[in-house]
Amino acid sequence: MLESSRCCHLAEARTNIVPGEGDPNTRIMFIGEGPGKNEDLQGRPFVGQAGQLLEQLLGEIGLSRNQVYIANVLKCRPPNNRDPLPQEVEACWPWLRQQIEIIDPVLIVLLGRFAMERFLPGMKISNVRGKVLRRSIPEVGVKVFMPTYHPAAALYHREWTNPLREDFQKIPRILDLLESGGQDNSIDGGAEWDTLEIGNNKKNPEQGRLL
Ligand code: URA
Repeated sequence: MLESSRCCHLAEARTNIVPGEGDPNTRIMFIGEGPGKNEDLQGRPFVGQAGQLLEQLLGEIGLSRNQVYIANVLKCRPPNNRDPLPQEVEACWPWLRQQIEIIDPVLIVLLGRFAMERFLPGMKISNVRGKVLRRSIPEVGVKVFMPTYHPAAALYHREWTNPLREDFQKIPRILDLLESGGQDNSIDGGAEWDTLEIGNNKKNPEQGRLL
């Protein structure tokens, strides 16, 4: 699917393409930034320290990496792990778009600001992390997203680990709500995106509804 001839200049320096992996029939897709050194060497996403944290957080909600799908906005490692450039993100977009189309996840978890920026441009991760947003994406259609901190960022900023964990802990409930008719696939009043209120409210567990 990923032909070098259609890739950007990052293809020249990479060791392996890192397309993504997991269960194509999953309800949940995680999208990170791009391959690091370990991922580049192995051709698999999230296999380094950030991947270990991701697996741990998944395990805490009863999931293994084989039960979800894990991809990145970039399919090739940027030199020295520098930030992705907008043109690189766009060059990889056709593949990410097709992955979303094929997997058709109920929920997309955006790991970090570069994944968030591709789908929810202009938002600030500290403001929207853990929120559930429904948005219509050109070439993809209406999808439900939850942005959160990137596991690598949480390893660096230890104080982000608990917020990241809290966001992961919401995932089973979000999936249940989305699949139990809590989702109305139309975009109300032409608004560009809506927020799903997923209550962490133990007193009123029913409080999870689409606003
Ligand atoms: N960070 C990412 O964003 N993706 C990976 O695959 C590994 C680390």
